[in-house]
Amino acid sequence: MEKKSQISRRSFVKTAAAGAGLMILPSGTLFGQNTPNNRLNIALLGASGRAEAHYEGLIRENVVALCDVDENHLAKAARHFPEAKHYVDWRKCLDQKDIDAVVCCTPDSTHAFIGMWSLNRDYHIYMEKPLGLSVEEIRLVREAWMKKKDKLVVQHGTQRHAKPNFDRIRELIQDGAIGELESVSTWGNRQLPKPGYPPASGKAPATLHYDLWIGPSPYHPYTPDYFAGEPGANCLQWNMYWDFGAGQVADMGSHTMDIAWNAIDGSLPTSAYAFGEEYNPEVTPVELTMIFELPANDWRPAIEVSWHQGGAMPRSPLSSVDLDKINHGALFKGSKGHLVCSFDDRILIPSEDSSDMTYYTPRPKEEIIEPMGNFQQQWINACKTGGKTSCDFEYGGTKMEMMILGLAAYRAGEKLDYDGATGRVTNNEAANELLKRSYRPGWELIG
Ligand SMILES: NC(=O)c1ccc[n+]([C@@H]2O[C@H](COP(=O)([O-])OP(=O)(O)OC[C@H]3O[C@@H](n4cnc5c(N)ncnc54)[C@H](O)[C@@H]3O)[C@@H](O)[C@H]2O)c1
Repeated sequence: MEKKSQISRRSFVKTAAAGAGLMILPSGTLFGQNTPNNRLNIALLGASGRAEAHYEGLIRENVVALCDVDENHLAKAARHFPEAKHYVDWRKCLDQKDIDAVVCCTPDSTHAFIGMWSLNRDYHIYMEKPLGLSVEEIRLVREAWMKKKDKLVVQHGTQRHAKPNFDRIRELIQDGAIGELESVSTWGNRQLPKPGYPPASGKAPATLHYDLWIGPSPYHPYTPDYFAGEPGANCLQWNMYWDFGAGQVADMGSHTMDIAWNAIDGSLPTSAYAFGEEYNPEVTPVELTMIFELPANDWRPAIEVSWHQGGAMPRSPLSSVDLDKINHGALFKGSKGHLVCSFDDRILIPSEDSSDMTYYTPRPKEEIIEPMGNFQQQWINACKTGGKTSCDFEYGGTKMEMMILGLAAYRAGEKLDYDGATGRVTNNEAANELLKRSYRPGWELIG
């Protein structure tokens, strides 16, 4: 049987091809429609760092607005996008009248705000992961998009999803290469230990709008530490602090859990349990294990899904396969064997009594899932044609809601039963407070 997302991916390719050159836009007319090649009018929020990985695709469109709290970063981006207007406050930027779509590469603490404000203005969005920092934030953005999904195109920025290995794993799991699926463990080995927020140090340069950088988060004094990283990896200077990020859960966890999510057709869990190093109210844990129960779906039973980080690891099914050598990977366990993988490679390990693999028939060549092409370009094309993307906010949102719920379970220190329909913990009323973030006065999540 052809599986759901194979169909959607195939029909996307077909729709995109059929629509090439056309401009069938569910949301109506694009502002950039009458420019050569039907360009999109794009606002780029967070103009440097991760944004630079988007420049190549964006140069072929109309970048009409650049927003960054660092004026030097604005000036640097302006060399590539000379026509764009400049902003330091994304709230003002989003009110520019000719925007079709937003590419959001700002720090994590602003994602849900920018997501909600953009959806309210009917902008298509490419949102870098994670999408939000609390269960409440991620649910709000997902639900807001679901109401407008027939007219707005969104992509959750987990670009590794385009690697062919993701779909080869999906095919092996769903075609029964390890028998009936029982569990999936995922892991990441990055360790960025910090004792607490860095102390105040020096004065913010005049070109940096530090108060806007803090944005909706509780105030912490300036230190150059938050800005000392390499472009594209500066998030590693702030994403371990609770008020600015969710540590590796939202960082490499977003990408690594994506290998599993793509293969298992994941949905919100019915429970979450987590344990690791002692809770630090300032810094997210380095070592952490999170375990979720996922309900059955139409092709597999209920399964356990886990995330291990910072030294915590699942046990290898084979002593000769050293999982520690795979920095970020996944281990699928089935009734007939295991599949171990990284982002790019995979190893199939049939159990001893199933080693002839006669239970498994590989799919015919014509049913192999077609490559999706460039991940960012898929979104740009879909904005123009009304096509679909691979990681919309339903797909990426449910995955991130589960991951961030795991951090709430870690803080609660007990197994939380979760009702995905209402977004409530049902066995510990107080833990529902852990599903929210508090904001500085003056910042509105929905605007
Ligand atoms: N998909 C990936 O592989 C990947 C890789 C790295 C980072 N990211 C994500 O991209 C985002 C940015 O990460 P980064 O390492 O580039 O961070 P960064 O600290 O370098 O910030 C990115 C840019 O945003 C600007 N900025 C900061 N606060 C802003 C605000 N409130 N409004 C407008 N601009 C603001 C910064 O000056 C900088 O130019 C993060 O959400 C991160 O999780 C994704």
